[in-house]
Amino acid sequence: MQDAPPLIDLYTLPHKAIRAAVAHAAMTVGATDPDGIAEAASAVGEALGELAAHAAHEEEFIDPLLERRLPDAAIEVAEQHRRLGATIDGVLRQRDGALAVAPEQPGAVLGLYRALQRLAAENLLHLDHEETVVMPALWVVTPPHELQELMASFRAAHPDAAALYRRWPAALAATERRLVGVGEASTVPAPERQGPSYPKPRSGAVTSGR
Ligand SMILES: [Fe+2]
Repeated sequence: MQDAPPLIDLYTLPHKAIRAAVAHAAMTVGATDPDGIAEAASAVGEALGELAAHAAHEEEFIDPLLERRLPDAAIEVAEQHRRLGATIDGVLRQRDGALAVAPEQPGAVLGLYRALQRLAAENLLHLDHEETVVMPALWVVTPPHELQELMASFRAAHPDAAALYRRWPAALAATERRLVGVGEASTVPAPERQGPSYPKPRSGAVTSGR
């Protein structure tokens, strides 16, 4: 009997990089004194930029598939994306507020740290839902060739998508790095951190404080 083709997983590898980006930003802010807010804000922008770029990819390529194959799951995913988007926007405002008032108000950095960790918690649950609920459901109802075509379309539209893994190489196992063509399998290459970032901080933003 012929072996079944390997299952195409749309989520796990990019999600590893996304988790690393948010965790890196959260740790950076946690390790920041009030006079280092600019650097911390930059790390936050980097993480939010990764989240935004990833969300745009899902919206363009995966959401139509969910609508077609799993319309009920699509509703739940869309709601999670909506909530996550609102949380991300809140963290962006918190970041801009912290930039405006630190170091005179040292607690602003701690507020940003906690807001970012709440975002991390929400994001972790969302990513886990996509990986452990949505993806297995897609495997049941989607012909493998359709997932292969989706990946081919994605790679054609985003030929440098593997740059995500070059920015966060330590997020992947050696075999996964080899799979996506990032560095030597046995070593973790140095990160190339020129990724997407949120645009410059909004002026006059206020700290949402929670
Ligand atoms: Fe998502």
